[in-house]
Amino acid sequence: MTIGGSDMTVEDAVRTVVADHRDQRGALLPVLHALQAELGCVPKEAIPVLADEFNLSRADVHGVVTFYHDFRREPAGRTTVRICRAEACQALGSDALVGYAREAGLAVGETTPDGSVTVEQVFCLGNCALGPAVEVDGRLYGRVDTARLGSILKGTVA
Ligand code: FES
Repeated sequence: MTIGGSDMTVEDAVRTVVADHRDQRGALLPVLHALQAELGCVPKEAIPVLADEFNLSRADVHGVVTFYHDFRREPAGRTTVRICRAEACQALGSDALVGYAREAGLAVGETTPDGSVTVEQVFCLGNCALGPAVEVDGRLYGRVDTARLGSILKGTVA
């Protein structure tokens, strides 16, 4: 896998990011965040390189990447819709939003085939009093019902 049409490989990107964090203790998480910022995700090809760099097993690195919901395995779509599924939003109906998105062909954790939208779940957006909360490309929406989510997914909510 090369990156953005350049000759840079995932391995090159990982080793560069790790080098930038060489003096930082407990650098795996900052490196993963930096890698995702650089590549848009933490691709599976990065796992063995990270294991080598941090002297960890591949299973250890894989465990960290999959434990944290923030890390993507594939690049996100052009629009990222994050539905809060923490307790307060769940009590106010966020499961209905997840079901609605799934029926619209957007399961949590997936991207539309045309790469336009990715739906993710998060656990608290700091908007608990106005749940269910949804964040679209960093913009927060409160009291989202299925009709409003439909408009958001169609890109018709300003
Ligand atoms: S629980 Fe959803 S914003 Fe806090």
